[in-house]
Amino acid sequence: MIEIPTIFKDVDVKKNLLIKKKVGIIGYGNQGRAQALNLRDSKITIKIGLRKNSKSADLVVKDGLDFLEIPNLVKWADVIAILIPDEIMSNVYEDHIKPHLNKNQLLLFSHGFNIHYKHILTPEYVDVVLVAPSGPGKMVREKYEIGKGIPNLLAIHNDYSSQAFDIMLSYSYNIGGTKIGAIKSSFKEECETDLFGEQVVLCGGIPKLIKMAFNTLVKSGYQPVVAWFVCFYEVKLIVDLFFEKGFDYMNESISDTAEFGGYKVGDIIFDKELNDRMKNILQDIQSGNFNKEWSKESKMGYKELMKMRLADRNSLIEKTTQFIIKKLN
Ligand SMILES: NC(=O)c1ccc[n+]([C@@H]2O[C@H](COP(=O)([O-])OP(=O)(O)OC[C@H]3O[C@@H](n4cnc5c(N)ncnc54)[C@H](OP(=O)(O)O)[C@@H]3O)[C@@H](O)[C@H]2O)c1
Repeated sequence: MIEIPTIFKDVDVKKNLLIKKKVGIIGYGNQGRAQALNLRDSKITIKIGLRKNSKSADLVVKDGLDFLEIPNLVKWADVIAILIPDEIMSNVYEDHIKPHLNKNQLLLFSHGFNIHYKHILTPEYVDVVLVAPSGPGKMVREKYEIGKGIPNLLAIHNDYSSQAFDIMLSYSYNIGGTKIGAIKSSFKEECETDLFGEQVVLCGGIPKLIKMAFNTLVKSGYQPVVAWFVCFYEVKLIVDLFFEKGFDYMNESISDTAEFGGYKVGDIIFDKELNDRMKNILQDIQSGNFNKEWSKESKMGYKELMKMRLADRNSLIEKTTQFIIKKLN
């Protein structure tokens, strides 16, 4: 039997402590805007913290919210959610957040990266918690708007006030997390599993598998559009099936030919060597090697990232995707 953790739902939120707090959201990007709008619609008092001359200022105002420069926001807020890119967070923290922190404030992160790898060291007189939505900001907002939510992982790094848990749960409740379920984790667990999941499955494994299969078909003389339908388009349809009720349900909905071929070839592609490489990738995350590599890349001005992004943008599969999207819409 699997070990079932406690899953906190709306009914478990006995104290909605956030109602009495001033919440400052630093950053108005993917998570910042989604969480801010959900909190606003949950009747929480919020303001946004932006850098000087921020390009997001107009959008904040358009959304009916107030903004302050980050140091002023830190002075104003009881709860401070830091929702800016992880690789620049420690610099912003040192220069604009830390000097203005006061006793009994609460710092909230949506990813364990900076606390787990010790890029940010927080003082003992503030609470430090994690409310990490298991999905992109766009979905955090969209699900909330239809009365649903995205699951949250929760963790406490420091509980100075003895109220960190209740404030954290209340935050999750007000962004829609406990609508579906919030699970207690740790900064370490969230950080390492999140990095592993995005590298091996979500952003590394699945896109690479699609691209490689597409290129194999095209190089063997098949039409790019036909290769695209089978390797790219149908992924969404099959994922929807197993996402709804599991792999067994998916198997019932596909042909026996597809199921048999899937088992046989799945074992050939995903063999023991691939499993060993996965373990090495996890070790790189656990040892901090990936963290060092990413920090170095950020300091070097993202040169390698830009190169890989450009190659992706100019690939045949990307051009085929853009062509078909235009034709189909
Ligand atoms: N992407 C997701 O949906 C997702 C999912 C789960 C967890 N998370 C976590 O959520 C956190 C935020 O990620 P995100 O993807 O939402 O970030 P993001 O969209 O890249 O953040 C953009 C915001 O950060 C601000 N920013 C960038 N550099 C800054 C600087 N030097 N000083 C001050 N502000 C700066 C930008 O300011 P301007 O407007 O002025 O440009 C903008 O408002 C991260 O910890 C991430 O791991 C993200």
